[in-house]
Amino acid sequence: MVKTTKSANLLFDGKNFDLPMKSPSIGPDVIDIGKLYNEADIFTFDPGFTSTASCESSITYIDGDKGELLYRGYPIDQLAEKSHFLEVCYLLLYGELPTSPQLNDFENRVTMHTMVHEQMHNLFRGFRRDAHPMAIMVGVVGAMSAFYHDSTDINDQMQREISSIRMIAKVPTIAAMAYKYSIGQPYVYPRNDLDYASNFLRMCFSVPAQEYEPNPILSRAMDRIFTLHADHEQNASTSTVRLAGSSGANPFACIAAGIACLWGPAHGGANQACLEMLHEIGSLDRIPEYINRAKDKDDPFRLMGFGHRVYKNFDPRAKVMKESADEVLELLGIENNEILQIAKELERIALEDEYFIEKKLYPNVDFYSGIILDAMGFPTSMFTPIFALSRTVGWISQWKEMIADPVQKIGRPRQLYSGPVERDYIKLENR
Ligand code: ACO
Repeated sequence: MVKTTKSANLLFDGKNFDLPMKSPSIGPDVIDIGKLYNEADIFTFDPGFTSTASCESSITYIDGDKGELLYRGYPIDQLAEKSHFLEVCYLLLYGELPTSPQLNDFENRVTMHTMVHEQMHNLFRGFRRDAHPMAIMVGVVGAMSAFYHDSTDINDQMQREISSIRMIAKVPTIAAMAYKYSIGQPYVYPRNDLDYASNFLRMCFSVPAQEYEPNPILSRAMDRIFTLHADHEQNASTSTVRLAGSSGANPFACIAAGIACLWGPAHGGANQACLEMLHEIGSLDRIPEYINRAKDKDDPFRLMGFGHRVYKNFDPRAKVMKESADEVLELLGIENNEILQIAKELERIALEDEYFIEKKLYPNVDFYSGIILDAMGFPTSMFTPIFALSRTVGWISQWKEMIADPVQKIGRPRQLYSGPVERDYIKLENR
């Protein structure tokens, strides 16, 4: 519950301005500068929003110094261990853990929507076979608004609900179809008797000639990857979804915008980049060379999977992911996998190195997720689509929260202009 308690005082141009302050349920207080421009005729400047809260939210809380992540107050490690993805989806969407009938009803609603419109198959066929699955996902999720007109009215609470369920249900089908298309195999229709993670694995790995039996340990690891990526407060892609949604755009378009933002290597693309980096390192003896490159100011190289804007401690998701990596590789009999050995050694060295200690660069969630996905048989190009699939519920929960927020307005940042002052047009012949 947010309280308006004290105020901050700004002395500017000889005048005092009282700025109200708000106290969150946990975390640092915020100064409300919403009226600053009106009253003092100045803007604030904060590229990358490093000190700016862009909205009020009750969904996810991160304490970056402690390395703590809570979904609706529940620690991520407890959810990863004791819960499962669809229950976590319910929690994120509705604010509380479901009762047994509520969970049954929710799971039924999701599984009733797992198929995509048959006409969508033609849309997939329009893409080149070698298209990156993220490119296909941005296009196909955006195109959902052309297929599901009956759930695009953002002012209708029921339509918002249906579009949310549709996206959670169909994004795995879309991600699996993007994968199947890229490898020239037929699409596999969803099977509603399987749990969410097993169904996704089957849609990716089954072929008409041979049925795929999902292994419970792999399904559990997949489910954990979904859970660990489900939400992460106001990160770049979530803020993109909120900004797109603030104009009143339909939810499918907003989530497509989030997918586009997630694609970048500084965000969701990092797990692909991290595994590629581990392969490029290739052997334990080359690690020092890469550590030195990461520390060299003149070299743009960064250790992928290390560092985070908010976590200045171990990313709590990385701890769970590391355990999962051990389980999966043991099951598959590849626990001596060289890539895992390189990852562990890299982590050990980086955690002892002065540069990484001083800059508080710890492994993030992507450091181990790529190793698990690789062992399961996913190509690196599928890593970010799997992240997008997992994050869809977070984006939707945040979008719904924003739409229901009475103080919500169109997002419209200001700027610190440094371009030319007004000048007259010069005719071409006089330039
Ligand atoms: N390797 C080497 N040095 C690093 C790394 C890294 N991975 N990350 C940050 N640094 C250094 C920077 O060079 C900078 O040094 P300086 O102060 O001497 O200039 C300092 O640490 C701070 O870095 P910033 O880029 O200012 O920190 P920011 O909070 O903006 O960046 C980010 C966070 C983008 C995640 C960064 O750490 C990074 O690029 N990491 C690698 C990519 C990655 O793993 N991204 C996944 C993020 S998690 C996710 O999206 C799920």
